Amino acid sequence: MNRNILITGGAGFIGSHVVRLFVEKYSEYRIYNLDALTYAGNLENLSDLESSSNYTFIKGDITDENFINALFLKYRFDSVIHLAAESHVDRSIKDPLAFVKTNVIGTMILLNAFKNCWNTNFNDKLFYHISTDEVYGTLGEIGLFTEQTSYDPNSPYSASKASSDHFVRAYGETYNLPYVITNCSNNYGQNQFPEKLIPLFINNIINDKPLPVYGDGNYTRDWLYVKDHAIAIDLVFHKGKQGNTYNIGGFNEWKNIDLVKLLCEQMDTKLNNEKGTSEKLITYVKDRPGHDLRYAIDASKINQELGWKPSVTFEQGLKRTIDWYLDNERWLSGVTSGEYQSYYQKQYNH
Ligand code: NAD
Ligand code: TYD
Repeated sequence: MNRNILITGGAGFIGSHVVRLFVEKYSEYRIYNLDALTYAGNLENLSDLESSSNYTFIKGDITDENFINALFLKYRFDSVIHLAAESHVDRSIKDPLAFVKTNVIGTMILLNAFKNCWNTNFNDKLFYHISTDEVYGTLGEIGLFTEQTSYDPNSPYSASKASSDHFVRAYGETYNLPYVITNCSNNYGQNQFPEKLIPLFINNIINDKPLPVYGDGNYTRDWLYVKDHAIAIDLVFHKGKQGNTYNIGGFNEWKNIDLVKLLCEQMDTKLNNEKGTSEKLITYVKDRPGHDLRYAIDASKINQELGWKPSVTFEQGLKRTIDWYLDNERWLSGVTSGEYQSYYQKQYNH
């Protein structure tokens, strides 16, 4: 079947892997990547796809209602895979309103445009909303988040994602809008902006800078290799049950401090450093306000219904990630200096 798919946030970390997977795997689909190219969007991630006949990049903001409505009128997207968001908890603490604008209002504008475009004729249509496990709040030492866990968000970021999830579900109930939602755990891998834990610490080790561990470092996250997330998204897009939520996770819990020590060890090996060199950079700093203690996903639903499980172990994924950042120091210095933001202008000449 031919499809006209709008992927939002495709120049970002996870979005770039999803766009690549869809463009390369489904030559019969037309993939439109809509991205505002905020600090987190980097078109260089996809520069090799620009000549693909089934791929189009569109620069635009999901909060611009007139623009989004016109875009739906022009292209009549039958499916949306919605990843565009403000995604960093620390930034949400500094500027919560920016998160409401993009994550809540932006999602609403897309939902309305999609609804109005198809009226009630939703046959073979799908609005796929990508969300996070952080909407469930925090776990104590034991237990896992399931699809039945109540929402209990603690940060402005997770509150904005929770709100957008609720609106998607509400449009399903109220207008029969066909949707699916996935809530995924922490991703890591190639193309991640060096503000999140793993790429920030890789970058700091390369530059011999302190590794700022928040609080006592005993916070726990469940880590998933980004390409495994993209594979899960492909599967849910094609085989997920409409009106359903699926949790996606890595079956891979790490306390921050243990993860950081493993990362230091692997970096020392790679850089031919004396053992213990990178660990000396660990610096305990003031904790993040409202810091969630532990996230861990029960991914048995997607495993049992759709046969998905992570294909890469954490050691393999982390090694691939470190190798990629070390092989792509130009990318890393480009994003830290801001140079990457001129790429769109150079490539598209405006
Ligand atoms: P990211 O910050 O790397 O990328 C976000 C992308 O959205 C960027 O390309 C940015 O330019 C674009 N964008 C931001 N505001 C926009 C706007 N107003 N209009 C159009 N485009 C805009 O984020 P990510 O880590 O790739 O996350 C993608 C999605 O997955 C988000 O919805 C996030 O909540 C969700 N998610 C992320 C993780 C994770 O660990 N990173 C885990 C689970 C779910
Ligand atoms: P992060 O990568 O920001 O993802 P999230 O907050 O969405 O889980 O952070 C992962 C964990 O690492 C989280 O417990 C906060 C912690 N952390 C630090 O200790 N130091 C840092 O500099 C950063 C960015 C995160």
